[in-house]
Amino acid sequence: MRDDVIYFDNGATSWPKPPEMGEAMMHFLTEVGASPGRSGHTLAVEAGHIVYSCRENLCKLFNLKHPQQIAFTKNITEALNIVFFTILEKGDHVITTSMEHNSVMRPLRYLESQGVIELTVVQANPEGVCAVEDFAAAVKPNTRMVVVNHSSNVTGTLQDIQAISKACKAKKEDVLFVVDTAQSAGAYPLDAEKMGIDILCFTGHKSLLGPTGTGGVYLTPAVTPRPFMHGGSGSKSDMEVHPLFMPDVWEAGTINIVGLAGLNAGLEYLLKTGVANIRAHEIAVTQRFIDGIKDHPMVKVYGPLDANQKTPVTSINIEGIVCSTVGTELNDACGIMVRTGLHCAPGAHRTIGTFPVGSVRFSFGGYTTPEEVDVGIKAIRALADYAAEQKEA
Ligand SMILES: Cc1ncc(COP(=O)(O)O)c(C=O)c1O
Repeated sequence: MRDDVIYFDNGATSWPKPPEMGEAMMHFLTEVGASPGRSGHTLAVEAGHIVYSCRENLCKLFNLKHPQQIAFTKNITEALNIVFFTILEKGDHVITTSMEHNSVMRPLRYLESQGVIELTVVQANPEGVCAVEDFAAAVKPNTRMVVVNHSSNVTGTLQDIQAISKACKAKKEDVLFVVDTAQSAGAYPLDAEKMGIDILCFTGHKSLLGPTGTGGVYLTPAVTPRPFMHGGSGSKSDMEVHPLFMPDVWEAGTINIVGLAGLNAGLEYLLKTGVANIRAHEIAVTQRFIDGIKDHPMVKVYGPLDANQKTPVTSINIEGIVCSTVGTELNDACGIMVRTGLHCAPGAHRTIGTFPVGSVRFSFGGYTTPEEVDVGIKAIRALADYAAEQKEA
């Protein structure tokens, strides 16, 4: 493990990962190696067990009942695209929020531009919170989907998923409630049933502690899926048309089994450690960070100042220093890795008032220590003091 860097970019992808993750991938490559669901030999069966275990562990983590309703994809972007492009039909109305990542907004805007869907965007307040009643008010007779980012990748702001789902379904029972859990899965305890989630999209490489190239989607059995890609599935090989059942319908071609071996190890680490325990740690380091900088007159912290209301992502700006310069200074002078700019979420930046310049994003993880946070606080305060001197000069 290298000790010359402080990694505060877990919102992009988590690092470090539990050692078990890399070990499981190496074990797969050196001891198993086969393609799951294709052949009947010992190694293929072992590979199949790894994939099934991954589906089962996701069910445990998200309180889902049907492991076969989870299809694996290469990331959440692919999962969301599959959902939008195969379920939505001409004339459907979709509701989403101003806090969405481009992986939601771009496909939806595309479908809108093609005349396929009608889109309503619920505006969040400057802290990134959407009012539950705004969703209910937007539901129309042709509303097919409500798509909500559970936790913002810019401010960490959490939406009240359960209340939004309940309010929308009270207006129209068959509305499909789709949740982007990219920032919350593994960082916040998720209960799909209690939260009224019909379609849960996830990415494997953030707080689920898997490698890049992994992600997926849970689909309620109430929806009959249509294929996104057509190809080999290892099932119904006598047919020249792609099977229509989950998960095969959305898993055309050989899946990323090496990646899933790693994701499965990440999930087992989460189940063993407990998401609630990881969340308690992440709340503590996030609050320490916010409290360490929020009183500085040159520092602006965006989003909720109470770490209980968010996942461990905090955006800031220092008056008088552009965010990219802050990021470069932190990297070059202190070895602190952050992400600056618009974070693929221009709507979220418009909402908090930082468009088009963006912000400096600090995103912590289960391995972040209070000592590392203190180095970050010191560095920010030093830059902010410098900015204050320049302002006075
Ligand atoms: C809220 C949110 N949604 C979607 C994504 C897209 O994730 P991926 O690149 O893994 O598809 C991200 C990644 O940063 C995100 O933060």
